[in-house]
Amino acid sequence: MRARLLGSGLAALLVLGVGAGAALGQGSAPPEAYVPSAERGHALVQRDCAGCHAVETTGASPFTPAPPFRTLADRYPLEDLEEALTEGIMSGHPAMPQFEFSAEDAADIVAWMKGLEGA
Ligand code: HEC
Repeated sequence: MRARLLGSGLAALLVLGVGAGAALGQGSAPPEAYVPSAERGHALVQRDCAGCHAVETTGASPFTPAPPFRTLADRYPLEDLEEALTEGIMSGHPAMPQFEFSAEDAADIVAWMKGLEGA
């Protein structure tokens, strides 16, 4: 149920990205020269997300219904999440406040999450 909700949200977002004329299919990608920093992403998720989600390679989420970040990549491509973070799509989750990040911040957060993969 939950996964399906997000799935449709992401699908809608992808359609929007195409509609917005993202010729390269990159949607709201950060400026070309930007090199994402997992370290900055780590600081961001510690500040904004760690109250509910497990944001490290181990540990349980402080708020049980919130999935640990290291499991997110199993559920959908992290690239989709990067776009979602810049579009404020998280409003679809009633228990979770809405966040809207700059493209750079979203890239940093996803860089951190990628580091959790296979951890
Ligand atoms: C107040 C608690 C809270 C905070 C703070 C919070 N979340 Fe969540 N988050 C949740 C809950 C609860 C869920 C599960 C909601 C659901 O599945 O409907 C969730 C789900 C998610 C999901 C998965 C959605 C899905 O259905 O697969 C992602 C991705 C996510 N959060 C990212 C973040 C990010 C990034 C931050 C920090 C910027 C953050 N969350 C901060 C409570 C929170």
